[in-house]
Amino acid sequence: MPIPTDAAPTAFWLAGREATGEATFDVTSPWDGRLVGTVSVPTEAQVEEAVAASVAVQEELAATPAHVRAAALDHVHRRLVERTEEIARLISAENGKPMKWARGEVGRAVSVFRFAAEEARRFNGGEAQRLDTDAGGAGRLALTRRFPRGTVLGIAPFNFPLNLCAHKIAPAIAAGAPIILKPAPATPLSGLILGELLAETDLPAGSWSILPVPNDRMPALVQDERLPVVSFTGSEKVGYAILDSVPRKHCTLELGGNGAAVVLPDFSSEADLDWAAQRIATFSNYQGGQSCISVQRVIADASVYDRLVPKIVAAVEAQVTGDPSDDATEVGPLVNEDAAQRVESWVDEAVERGAKLLAGGKRDGASYAPTVLEDVPADATLACEEVFGPVLTLKKVDGEAAAFAAVNDSKFGLQAGVFTHDVQTAFRAHRALEVGGVIIGDVPSYRADQMPYGGVKQSGVGREGVRFAMDDYTYERVLVLTGLAL
Ligand code: SIN
Repeated sequence: MPIPTDAAPTAFWLAGREATGEATFDVTSPWDGRLVGTVSVPTEAQVEEAVAASVAVQEELAATPAHVRAAALDHVHRRLVERTEEIARLISAENGKPMKWARGEVGRAVSVFRFAAEEARRFNGGEAQRLDTDAGGAGRLALTRRFPRGTVLGIAPFNFPLNLCAHKIAPAIAAGAPIILKPAPATPLSGLILGELLAETDLPAGSWSILPVPNDRMPALVQDERLPVVSFTGSEKVGYAILDSVPRKHCTLELGGNGAAVVLPDFSSEADLDWAAQRIATFSNYQGGQSCISVQRVIADASVYDRLVPKIVAAVEAQVTGDPSDDATEVGPLVNEDAAQRVESWVDEAVERGAKLLAGGKRDGASYAPTVLEDVPADATLACEEVFGPVLTLKKVDGEAAAFAAVNDSKFGLQAGVFTHDVQTAFRAHRALEVGGVIIGDVPSYRADQMPYGGVKQSGVGREGVRFAMDDYTYERVLVLTGLAL
């Protein structure tokens, strides 16, 4: 979606209205480097105005009836449906995501706003607890409701430039909390589209702003005491720097992962292994592997390993790479050439240290070929860090216990997939695996937008998934009533 060179810069959203600042920056396509858009940058004074407006509107927004907030969220979900193709093209242009996945992302954002509308209607019904269980509580009743902590500062990443903005904004509005959202510098345009849709609603001015603030100006905003909640999705390094800089704030961090898919002995028919291989190949490469829950590690039992590996290699080699605007493309470029060079250097390091390359291993500009390796040394960067690229490592293990130990042998703990048919195994996996989510019969990359999503260990703190983010953005306040005839 190229823009004419004389087009006005894309405005940002300041307290619900369009605004432009003094500076601009360009957004270019990772695929061919063409200009996708030019975005206006808010000045310090405009950021201050947005923060002040969000604080001023807190009471009004919290008191805005649920049906009004739900109607606004429903409006956004309907407009996303209407504008799906246009928005998918924009995601694909600025992010390099193939159209197939970009359309899927818009569909997920539709669901996020729809779920948020539903949650807004049922949230905060209040819970009554009788207190006369002790003599001192005779005639007393506690009523607990949740109230917004204050303005949420949402910081979104580039890999799902629409849906991960939706995951910050929609729960905030559903919970009655103002939000200031900062989209990723590489992909601000998809997030800014949400502003166009929100501006069509009756939400009070000030309740939302979408500000493409440059990264180097973010520490001041993170530390602003008027913004008590920081919801960040991105790298482990930046996430923990935020947490360390504001240890007394309520931080939700959705950070990295090196998702493992475990294939156990009972998942052994030809059809089983075909399914596992296809899912693994698809989800180690979707969005060029740039998802925190893409499959990075396959841990397969020795009884199925030798039959599984050729199927995975064939399925990975069959991935259609190329121009993300082409409907047939499955794997596009990474976000930029630096990212592809980093992936290349990690693969090269592993190969130099004895890993066997079974597929891929080649870079062309910002594109990196879908890659499969085995025998990767345990201390290679590829084995220890999140690759965030289209790279899969294979490991053979003996038995379920060894497989689960291999999954847990990681500093990350986001999601794991376990290919098994056995419900007892499923429950043992649920108990044993140190992750935020265990997916049975599929890859770790499965995410339904209403379910709790987040990690343990270095994968972060807190949970997204609409209602779970609403819990994070609010706190329980108890009301004790006295002298009642209970
Ligand atoms: C992420 O990369 O953490 C988001 C994955 C998803 O929403 O599917």
